[in-house]
Amino acid sequence: MAEGIHNLLGMKGLNREVITTILGTSAEFLKILERPIPKVPSLRGITIANVFFENSTRTRISFELAEKRLSADVINISASGSSVYKGETLLDTVRNIEAMRVDLVVIRHYAQGASKFLSDRIEAKVVNAGDGSHEHPTQALLDFMTLRQELSEFEGKKVLLLGDVTHSRVALSNIYGLQALGAEVMVCGPSTLLPHSISELGVESCYDLDEALSWCDAVNVFRLQIERQNDGFIPTLRDYQRKFGLTRQRLEKVGRKITVLAPGPMNRGVEIDSDVADAPGSVILQQVTHGVAVRMAVLYLISGKERVDE
Ligand code: CP
Repeated sequence: MAEGIHNLLGMKGLNREVITTILGTSAEFLKILERPIPKVPSLRGITIANVFFENSTRTRISFELAEKRLSADVINISASGSSVYKGETLLDTVRNIEAMRVDLVVIRHYAQGASKFLSDRIEAKVVNAGDGSHEHPTQALLDFMTLRQELSEFEGKKVLLLGDVTHSRVALSNIYGLQALGAEVMVCGPSTLLPHSISELGVESCYDLDEALSWCDAVNVFRLQIERQNDGFIPTLRDYQRKFGLTRQRLEKVGRKITVLAPGPMNRGVEIDSDVADAPGSVILQQVTHGVAVRMAVLYLISGKERVDE
């Protein structure tokens, strides 16, 4: 990547210059994706393993497509079809893949720090595709590409992160990246789903959605992780929707445009209503398109290639 960065493990520590370089390169790749033949030979001869130990639709497909658009050779490994179920460790699995001369590993794992653990132990370059509730850097980067399109710049802009921040890996990556770019960040949600330590990152918490919406230029709506709600984080889904669901009425009450992002998957009618997600001008599916361009940029920059269209 830009000078001295060989992996992408998180947004923490990436400065404005590096993020801007990734976003600028992503914009170049977006143009290539709009060509009749959206493919370049940039990563010809490079072999990439996508190792997914957790379910994924967008990230897994997006990385694979990005790799194929760059002409890399691609292999896909998921926990269910591998020897993980015979008791093989993550490190052994990846070392075996690496022994087959893989240059780069894209990993999604349920454990926080899994990508760092690997990058400390293998020669291949590593990209974090989401580790537990820790970080999901390429999701944050595609969020930023979409925000830049909508807001033009980040300096002084106010971005609200709404919902289940405690369990969201997208939240932390957004916070680190947005702050590096000069934006202000606030979180909003039930107190049970906002980490108490968030103030240490310079992020304010708000428990009133209408108040938070009146503050922001953009809102990133996180999925309520319904599978965790047996732990009693919220009284009922209905109660959550009433207090923190993003509705058209709520947005209209603010009386000015607010950009709405959602990393997906979405629980329609819970954290976001369909008439917001599918509103004319919604950028939620553009985020997904930008995801391919951003992942092409990250893989390309990490590989150290010279020119985007070589
Ligand atoms: N946004 C995101 O990471 O979606 P997936 O879990 O489907 O990859």
